[in-house]
Formats: sequence, C-alpha cells, structure tokens
Amino acid sequence: MTIRIRAADGAGAYVEDVQLDALNQSTTDTLRDALGEYGVLFFREQSLTPDQHIALAERFGEININRFFTPVDGYPKIAQVLKEPDQQKNIGEQWHTDHSYDQIPALGSILVARELPKTGGDTIFASMFAAYDALDDAMNQKLAGLTATHSSRHAFGPQAYEEDDDLAGRLGNTAAATQDAIHPLIISHPISGKKALYVNPGFTLHINELEAAESDALLQQIYTHCQNPDFSHRFSWQDGSIAFWDNRATWHSAMNDYAGQRRLMHRITVAGAALTA
Ligand code: SIN
Repeated sequence: MTIRIRAADGAGAYVEDVQLDALNQSTTDTLRDALGEYGVLFFREQSLTPDQHIALAERFGEININRFFTPVDGYPKIAQVLKEPDQQKNIGEQWHTDHSYDQIPALGSILVARELPKTGGDTIFASMFAAYDALDDAMNQKLAGLTATHSSRHAFGPQAYEEDDDLAGRLGNTAAATQDAIHPLIISHPISGKKALYVNPGFTLHINELEAAESDALLQQIYTHCQNPDFSHRFSWQDGSIAFWDNRATWHSAMNDYAGQRRLMHRITVAGAALTA
C-alpha cells in the first residue's frame, strides 16, 4: 500500500492508504514532511487505542503534557477534550494556536475522535502559510522583523474560570498559567522552512515594537486577513477520524454547534523546537 496525500481545500491535506497503528520510519518521515508542507493532516477510518495513540505521538517527538487540560483516566499523557450535553461552552472555540505561550511552542497535536455528536462539532483549520503567502508587499515589509508576546495567563489563569463553572471541571491548574513568551511575528517553519504568520487571537497579547493602540489595530488587521475562508478547511469528524496539526503553521477553532449532545476527543501534544524568523 502506498501512502497518498491529497491537498484539502484551503488548508491541510487528507492522507489515505496509511494505518497509523503500524507506521514504519519511512512513512513517519513522509508524514513529518507533509506536516511541514500542509500544516494539518486529516485521516479517516483509523482505530487507535489510547496506548497506540501515545505510541503514534512518540514517533514524532516527546509528549508535551498540557498542564491545563484534565487528563484521560489512566492516561496522564492524553488530554481530554470534552463537552457534556448540559454544558454550554466548548474548549477551543476561539481561533487559536496551542502553546504559543511557551518559550518553545509544541510542534502540534494529534486529536482522536472518541464520541461524536450526531450533528455539528466540526473543527476549522486555517493555514498560516497561505495567510503569509497572500500578504501584499507593503504588509510583508511592515511585519518583517516584528516580534509578539504570547501569554497563557488571560486564557488559563485564575481569573479565567472564576465566574465560569461551565469550564472549571474540564480545564484547571490555573496556578500554572505563568508563561509569557516572545516569538517572531513571521516564522520559518522548523520542518519545511516555509514562512508562516505566527500570531493568534487566543494567546497573542501585543506586538512588542509598537504602541498599544497601533499594536491592537495591526493585530486586528492581521486576524481579519487570516480569517479569509480561502485559507481554511472545515474538517467534519467521523468515527475513526484523526487530525494531526502543526501549531507553527495553523490556527484552529472548534465549532460549538451541538447543544445537548456529548463530544469527547483525546488530544496528545508533541513537543516542538525553538522558533526563528
Ligand atoms: C482544541 O482546541 O485543541 C480542540 C479542538 C477540537 O476539539 O476540535
């Protein structure tokens, strides 16, 4: 069986003729390269136990245990992404890039569908390669050399859940929300060297070289640009679906459109490398 990689509309690629529980080194290398090229890979009809999910992630690097997510029972390396029928909020609806608040942001995450709502619950991925490529020359020059500060404090710190019982059981450890990190606003992707925009609405606080008002206005302009539907792909989950995204090349947003239904996903995050312009 030869692995097939088919570009998806807007962002990412569908990978076919591959069994994620039986990868060899050559296929692992092909998938790593594809991640650096496409930013997010979509798989169908997989059947991974939690142990196989961990083994798959470890083929790509060390596991980075997210300190804010409730772990899956018996599997501390797997984060539980859960919304119960009586809960209003989901996890990850706002556009974001996981772990940009870390000094060395995670490579990416492997999300496995465990229990899906009958309708809804898609995840939208936006390509920051495509967003960068579509910048005009003037904007490209304006952004070159800038850096931005990213933080976990506003999103996962003590204030975040004070009045938010709905999320409190699913996210926690607010005392660990101490990370701020500075990264280039345009990065060279650690695998492919492709340029990508690296700011996101979830965790970026400000552009360091600009006054507050100017930074807010420019970030807003960049975010509007990045949300162009031409740069995104909406992934509809099915039983057996898996998405493996690269945080250095994509944003994602989990749709919260399945009120009264349960959705349970297992997420493992793989450690990354330092970012450079
Ligand atoms: C996340 O933001 O990691 C969750 C994505 C999803 O549940 O689709």
